[in-house]
Parts: sequence; structure tokens; C-alpha cells
Amino acid sequence: MSLAASPQAIDPPLWLLAELTYRCPLQCPYCSNPLDFARYREELDTDAWIDVLRQARAMGAVQLGFSGGEPLVRRDLEVLVAEARRLGFYTNLITSGVGLDGARIEALREAGLDHIQISLQAADDELAAAVAGSAKAHAAKLAMARAVKAAGYPMVLNVVLHRHNIDDTDRLIALCDELGADVVELASCQYYGWAKLNRAGLLPSRAQVERAEAVTQRWRERLAERGREMRLLFVVPDYFAERPKACMGGWGAIFMTVAPDGSVLPCHSARELPMAFPQVRDGSLEEIWYASEAFNRFRGDAWMPEPCGSCSERHQDHGGCRCQAFLLTGDPAAADPVCSKSPRRELIDRAVAEAADSAGDIATLVPRQARHSRTFWRG
Ligand code: FES
Repeated sequence: MSLAASPQAIDPPLWLLAELTYRCPLQCPYCSNPLDFARYREELDTDAWIDVLRQARAMGAVQLGFSGGEPLVRRDLEVLVAEARRLGFYTNLITSGVGLDGARIEALREAGLDHIQISLQAADDELAAAVAGSAKAHAAKLAMARAVKAAGYPMVLNVVLHRHNIDDTDRLIALCDELGADVVELASCQYYGWAKLNRAGLLPSRAQVERAEAVTQRWRERLAERGREMRLLFVVPDYFAERPKACMGGWGAIFMTVAPDGSVLPCHSARELPMAFPQVRDGSLEEIWYASEAFNRFRGDAWMPEPCGSCSERHQDHGGCRCQAFLLTGDPAAADPVCSKSPRRELIDRAVAEAADSAGDIATLVPRQARHSRTFWRG
């Protein structure tokens, strides 16, 4: 790779997502990790991650998310946070909360961590256990959310909404309020990775989504009346939208992910695409960002076929999501079928209809597990 190969003016990345590991004690059936995550057992070591952080910061990245899998399983997390702080990143830990304790919160605070985002699966023990595959996780998360708040962190609580918990939106928001959340992300499940595999059992109905949105709006009004500053974000599922999201702000535009094994990706789902992605050992992050074939493949709009190529909205949505386009059509360059202008929109409408017809028993969802992972990639 050579920087001279860069075909256009390209801005540096602003965001680095450091996926430290695919290991995780939970088994959520909507995990965005790749189906074949069990193949990637080798992880970058501490020195290699520090090198990644230094390179990304030197390029201009300012926001750094530590995620996984569960990043807390890395015993060197505090070392990496301290280096990130020294370099001047704004750091966010994206965690299930399982594996956190008071001593670790204190150590992370001393290392200079700025922000913690904890995920919740449900408003009660029973459903949370059925979703996460752990009877103890929910209570541990609540305890850790309280401890994080007590330690003075701004706290984001994230709930992935799907057909089994979306009708509990009222109770979920009440729980987040009680926990003292500063921001609540009610993030509708996105259908990549394990969620795509389990789509028919996860996709809510349009009526469920509309009810949940109305409940959220009522909560916003009540919170404002109380003078309580808790931001409530509700992300509508792509499948019920008419236009695609501007995924990652555009391919290779602001966002860079480094996967546990050192693969450098334009988004956390890109491994699912039929493309080769460079590794940190293949060259500098700068060469990869500016000059690699993978990062340049869907930059700009020259790659876009119709109807995107001549669409007046192509600079807003960048043709939508490349991973979603591939997972649904088999062609990563196709228009995202979420778009009502896509000739393949029927794929979305059919999926919604199939989900409405499916029994949707939570017991039929395939949990994210290494043994399933092996089954899928061998088969
Ligand atoms: Fe990969 Fe949208 S998730 S481009």
C-alpha cells in the first residue's frame, strides 16, 4: 500500500472502535459479533493495542470506544485506558457490566476513563435471563449501574429492543430513571450477525414499534415536567423506515474498527462482506485508511449503481448500509433494500411479514455461543 494511491481527498478518522475481544460471558441472540467469532481466538496483545491507539490518535482520531465481546475480560483494559487518556482520547467503555466491581470501577476511573455505557436486556430478571443466557447477569448489571453512577460517571444505559421486550418500554424507562441514567438508548435491534440469524424471532411488529415510540414520547414529556435531565433516544428499526440510515456516516468517512485479531474494518459488521480486510500487521493504520482497497471500495459515490447513482439523497445516506445490502441481496454494492426506491425493497417487506407470522417463541432463538459459531462456519 502506498499513500500516493489515495484516489481523492479523504478526511482522517474521528472514531476508533477497539473491539478488544470476542469473548463474552453472555449469549445474547442479537449479538453483532460475527457468526464465526470462534475462529478468531488470537487477540492483539497489550503492546499491539497501544500501537493501534498511538497510530489512530496521531492520525486525528479523538473518540475511542472499547468494546467486544465483553472488554472487561481483558485484564489489561486499565492499561489501555490509561494510555488512551495520556494520548488525549475521549474514552467510552461499552460493556454488559458483567465482570465489573467496585475495585475495577475505581481502577478505571484512576486510569482516566471518561464514560461508561452499560447494556440492559430487559426490565426484569426472568426475561433478562432468557435473553442473555445468565440467571445472575441482570442483578449484577443493576448493581454495577448504581456503582458507576455513585462513582460520578455520566452513564448511558443501552437496551436493544426486539419483539420480546419492546412492550416493556414503559418499565424499561422507569428502571433507567430509577438507576439515574443520564442517557437512555432504546436501540431497536439491527439485523446483522446473530440478530440476522434470529431475525424472524426478534423483529417486532409495526404496531409494537409505534406503541413503544408513543410511550417514549410520553416519558420525555414527564421527565421535562419533573426537570429530570435524562436524554431518551429511540432508534426505529431500519425495517420500518422508508430511507436507509447513513451507516457509519459513510464508508471509510469517520469510523474505523480494529477487531480482536487486528483486522481493520470500516464498521463492526464488515467481516460479513465477501471482501478481504487488512490487518494491523500489514501496514500502518494511515496506509490502511487512506490507500487500502477495502477502505476505498465504497467511498464517495462513484461506486454506486442505480438507483443510488443519480439519487438526489445519495450524499445524505451514502447509499445506506453496505453490510445490510449484502446480507439481504448478496451484493454489497446494491442499494440498501430498506430504501423504498430500491428495486429489492420487497425483501424487507417480506421479512416483516414472515416475522409477523412466526410464533416468536424466545426459546427458539439461537444463542450466541462458540459451539453454534463452529457449526455455522463449518457448515
Ligand atoms: Fe457495515 Fe453498515 S454495518 S456498512
